[in-house]
Amino acid sequence: MEQYYVTTPIYYVNSTPHIGHAYTTVAADVFARHQRQRGRETFLLTGVDEHASKVARVAEEQGLAPQAYADRIVEAWRALPARLGVSNDFFIRTSDDGHKRFVQEFLTRIRDNGREDIYQDVYAGLYCVGCEAFKTEDELVDGKCPQHDVEPEWIEERNWFFRLSAYQERLLALYDERPDFVLPGFRANEARSFIAGGLQDFSISRAGQPWGIPIPWDPDQVAYVWADALVNYLSALTYARPGEDLIPRFWPVAHHLLAKDILRFHCVYWPALLLAAGYDVPRQLFVHGYLLLNDRKISKSLGNVVDPLDLIDVYGADAVRFWCARSVSFGQDGVASIDGLRERYERELGNDLGNLLSRVTAMVARYRQGTLAAVPSGDSEVAAIVAPLGDDVAARLDVFDLTGALERIWEVVRGLNRHVEVTAPWQVAKDEARSAELDRVLYDLVDGLRAVAVALAAYLPDTSGRILAALGQAQTLDWAEVAYGRARAAENVEPAAPLFPRVDEPTLAA
Ligand code: ME8
Ligand code: MG
Repeated sequence: MEQYYVTTPIYYVNSTPHIGHAYTTVAADVFARHQRQRGRETFLLTGVDEHASKVARVAEEQGLAPQAYADRIVEAWRALPARLGVSNDFFIRTSDDGHKRFVQEFLTRIRDNGREDIYQDVYAGLYCVGCEAFKTEDELVDGKCPQHDVEPEWIEERNWFFRLSAYQERLLALYDERPDFVLPGFRANEARSFIAGGLQDFSISRAGQPWGIPIPWDPDQVAYVWADALVNYLSALTYARPGEDLIPRFWPVAHHLLAKDILRFHCVYWPALLLAAGYDVPRQLFVHGYLLLNDRKISKSLGNVVDPLDLIDVYGADAVRFWCARSVSFGQDGVASIDGLRERYERELGNDLGNLLSRVTAMVARYRQGTLAAVPSGDSEVAAIVAPLGDDVAARLDVFDLTGALERIWEVVRGLNRHVEVTAPWQVAKDEARSAELDRVLYDLVDGLRAVAVALAAYLPDTSGRILAALGQAQTLDWAEVAYGRARAAENVEPAAPLFPRVDEPTLAA
């Protein structure tokens, strides 16, 4: 059996979950669910990054131990995938014992690799706590980190360093040999030119901080938060299923999703750390853009942090998932607005899809007393519309074209709506002599909608199941079912309740 492994970044536990985090999480879930439909043994990982300096600072302000504070705030992060209907196989916390142990082993492997890739040096420089990264003067605007609008702190301490500079040639060779290592291509170019510009060694430890994973050979220092967090993609595989090491099965097929803000860490530092520790690099990384809310960056200070759980309360998880996949072309930056969510909910989910189901089921109920005859015909219009769908969608999802694959499915939804108008079953039903034709038209509409429901299952898992049930069809999601003529005869088909009922004008700002 083939395997597939997909990850989201692990989110800073001390930040507030917002729609941008939901975005990557939903995307990862669509890819994972789709690969499961194709029969691949799939592992989806998400979780939280707990060892940011800020966690210890805020915990102290609140009079709590850092771990107690993290244990409290992690619940909001667990709720995110759960409420979004995300099928993650594991939720990692970097405070897990299994993770801590693995990070220590990982760093020890680098230190013992015989190339002196880890060495001690004194570092002095400006450090932005928001980025958890050192900054050079020319990265600052008016002396401040442009991302966080705060002055970085001057830090001077003896640290353990990683010899990133020694990996320039190997990383360039990697990018040259594997043009699809990082997608989209313009992101690969961005990473490659950063590498070509020369790599500086970086500190992988911090002194004088109690919160973090102790450096095994120097327990007075803790691992730098990124040297700890990146390793989660491997460590989770060693303890997610007790007694099983999943690395041999899943690591060769690892796919990381992330936004452009953390490209360097993932596309440059991480492969170098892996090579130094004697592991293969991941199979592929996909770097997506920023979702801007109503034209602006999502940030606490702008006050436009829409809680995805509030949106789910109003519109339901599937509508939020749909909006994530559909409103902005995956890979690009783009504006997502609450108005856009409402508009798509009504027009696309409510009318295009929901009304189609209502009409088709109502016609089977009315003209055939709820009985559907299994009468596929080889050369029908619906057969032609549905035939290429499975391959087209799969090909797009294989290159992370989350938005394009959904648009491809929607073309079929629109095609089926046109087919209803063109075939006008209400006319056919008036004429006894056209009884066999009516059976064929109804069968084709049911079957087309069934194929759409199977194709949509990765995006709209709940809706997909409801469509299949309303049509009296099996809940079989194998990808081979995205084909014409798989509908079975059914009885007791009733006019379906609206899939996406009108919602009252929500009181959501932004
Ligand atoms: O960077 N649009 O965590 P983080 C799209 N802990 N995606 C967005 C987004 C937006 N406006 N805002 C956030 C960290 N994201 C580290 C990661 S991984 C080993 C450690 C998503 O909480 C996007 O996936 O800042 C981005 O990469 C991630 O959240 C950053 O989450
Ligand atoms: Mg961030």
